[in-house]
Amino acid sequence: MSDKKFTPRVFSGIKPSGGLQLGNYLGAIKRFVQMQDEMETVYCVVDLHAITVWQDPKELANGTREVAAGYLAAGLDPTKSILFNQSQVAAHAELGWIFNCVARMGWMNRMTQFKDKAGANAEKVSLGLYAYPSLMAADILLYHATHVPVGEDQKQHVELTRDIAAKFNHDFKTDFFPMTEPIIDGPATRVMNLRDGTKKMSKSGESDMERVNMTDDADTIVKKFKKAKTDPEPLPDTLEGLKDRPEARNLVDIYAALNDSTPDAVIGEYAGAGWGRFKPALADLAVSKLAPIADEMARLMDDPTEIDKVLKNGADRARAIADPVLAQTYDIVGFLRS
Ligand code: TRP
Repeated sequence: MSDKKFTPRVFSGIKPSGGLQLGNYLGAIKRFVQMQDEMETVYCVVDLHAITVWQDPKELANGTREVAAGYLAAGLDPTKSILFNQSQVAAHAELGWIFNCVARMGWMNRMTQFKDKAGANAEKVSLGLYAYPSLMAADILLYHATHVPVGEDQKQHVELTRDIAAKFNHDFKTDFFPMTEPIIDGPATRVMNLRDGTKKMSKSGESDMERVNMTDDADTIVKKFKKAKTDPEPLPDTLEGLKDRPEARNLVDIYAALNDSTPDAVIGEYAGAGWGRFKPALADLAVSKLAPIADEMARLMDDPTEIDKVLKNGADRARAIADPVLAQTYDIVGFLRS
């Protein structure tokens, strides 16, 4: 293979299944918005992926808008980034099919997320859930994306994307698809549950007190941090001292991420402080960062025409990149186009 150069381009996908929370904001949205000033950025609300498990149609449309609203409210500039929903760009499904014919059963069988999600129920889950990572490879490679910011849990899927690109390039004797790099970093790529510091914060957890939603108002945010589980010890002098204190560590990480600081710096400032001092400071910081975003999300959701326009325009721009890549792929594969 030659060392063909690809324009640096970021792609990432966000699932529109029900409610954005602090983990989405700190782990994805905030970082994605920052990247728009560094590189070409393409962000896709992956509604095709969402239906690999059952979605209520009304909630799906609403969830797609809410994710878009979250990005816009957090500062995504739709003239810089491309923001669109996957189903509006047919090339995703089309390239996904070709990749279903490139990926091997053995590779798919090793996907740990599928095994976790299907569990004992593997006979009853959709075929789409199994093929999910191959569609994800299509998302990425349609844009010849060079960098994909994702959480740790998606690393294996990005590696599969590289395997698919390499096999396609090898089988068709081409260097058409790039070897995409995952970007996994940031102090709070793993925001943990406020009631149990060993579990990830998630939108599906049973109690609303265990997470901060991006739509929570100021009073709710304050209440949730006040009630967050901690231990009786004050904050230590060094980060080392947070070992084996998952709840304390989580609150320090959240503070650092919200403040564009580091856990070390937070410990430096609050060494010896009790929770009676740290929690209100954290709650104030969270309210100052999150409440304006929640307000803007509410404004956008109130009249979705603005969001829908952004998504339509994003889809037009996405197609301008994706369609020629798909057309060239068709030529390489040998599909007759007249
Ligand atoms: N699988 C990702 C998740 O669950 C979402 C996703 C779909 C994605 N397509 C993508 C992420 C392409 C990065 C690039 O979070």
